[in-house]
Amino acid sequence: MTDPLDALASAARSGDGVTRLGRGAWLVTDPAETERLLASRDAVTGRTDRPTAPTSWGPDGPATWMAVRRAMRPLFTTARITASLPVVAEQAGGIVPGWPSPGVVDVGDETVRVVSAVNTRHLLGGPSRVLPPLLERELLLAGPRPTPFRRHRLRRAQRATYDAVRDAVRDDVRGPRAGLPAVLLGQGFDEHAVTLALRAMLLSGHHVPATALAWALHELSTHPDVQRDARAEATAHPDPTADLPLCRAVIREALRLHPPVWRLRRRLAAPARGLPAGADLLFSPYLNHRDPGTWSEPAEFRPRRWSADFRPAPGSYLPFALGPRTCPASHPALAQLTVVLATVLRTHHLVPHGSPTPTFDVLHAPRRLRLRLLPV
Ligand code: HEM
Repeated sequence: MTDPLDALASAARSGDGVTRLGRGAWLVTDPAETERLLASRDAVTGRTDRPTAPTSWGPDGPATWMAVRRAMRPLFTTARITASLPVVAEQAGGIVPGWPSPGVVDVGDETVRVVSAVNTRHLLGGPSRVLPPLLERELLLAGPRPTPFRRHRLRRAQRATYDAVRDAVRDDVRGPRAGLPAVLLGQGFDEHAVTLALRAMLLSGHHVPATALAWALHELSTHPDVQRDARAEATAHPDPTADLPLCRAVIREALRLHPPVWRLRRRLAAPARGLPAGADLLFSPYLNHRDPGTWSEPAEFRPRRWSADFRPAPGSYLPFALGPRTCPASHPALAQLTVVLATVLRTHHLVPHGSPTPTFDVLHAPRRLRLRLLPV
């Protein structure tokens, strides 16, 4: 079977940046066209294409979802994100130092555990023991190709997650009103819409950021010089709100080399850039991120390229997508992952333990990534 990445890469090589794939579908890899088409209001997401996809479960219909997206913004201002970082550090500090050291960890499991705890706490305004295992189960059952039997179990898992999220929304109404439910309820959305929105945020923030962190840890384990310098930065600045440019650059560079969301789909609602209405558009952050026309040494892990004044060319860096359906949590995700990474580096040396297999399925992930940890 052809690897899905090979198929896309060879199609891209045969075209000129906007490549016809047949049956009304185009692959867009030219950075400028990527920027124009993805940012266009006419490039819409088909949320019903794959009913089991986690983000297909946003509030009923795109209009409500876009209103929810606007209403969520107060939670993601710079001031609010910075204010949330001590809690992120506390969550990470409660988990990461417990990793066996010296010892070998399954990085996939551990990063999901810490990231999910951080995300749940951030969105709910308080910790939850119930939700992370429910999210994990639902996402595993959703998988890339659910069988009919799995679909039945998936529907049960989806109902269980929905009920647990709704309970969390009700708790927030009774409790201190510190999280996303309070922000949304305060703007007049009903309990069902808030439950669906929170559920979409929790599911989207479960595997994707954990995969990004796993890739960052893998790259640091194979680049001991960068690891040493990033640890020195993290150790010199223990305050969770401190600026950590190298640690942040490590996350950015890991997202460049290994964007977990490695392909994006959109449908054109109206003609654009010479393409007809109804065209299916495929974009690949992975291919754009490794384009030798826009990146120097594209296959190399070079966090220091992210200096303060570095701006990637338009359309050449899109780990969070672009345009109206860009990731709503890109800023908090980057800030939180930087804090979690710094927490790891302060307590553990990362040493390779076998080589992971890169997968290109729903996500671009490092399968069977294990690391040997040594105490700092
Ligand atoms: C490094 C971390 C993350 C990366 C790389 C990332 C990447 C992305 C990308 C590429 C999309 C667009 C997907 C598409 O259109 O098919 C997306 C959408 C989304 N992300 Fe993220 N994400 C991250 C973290 C998060 C977190 C922490 C949350 C929640 C707190 C979140 C919530 C969402 C939601 C709800 C959407 C759907 C937006 C919409 O359809 O309007 N993401 N993300």
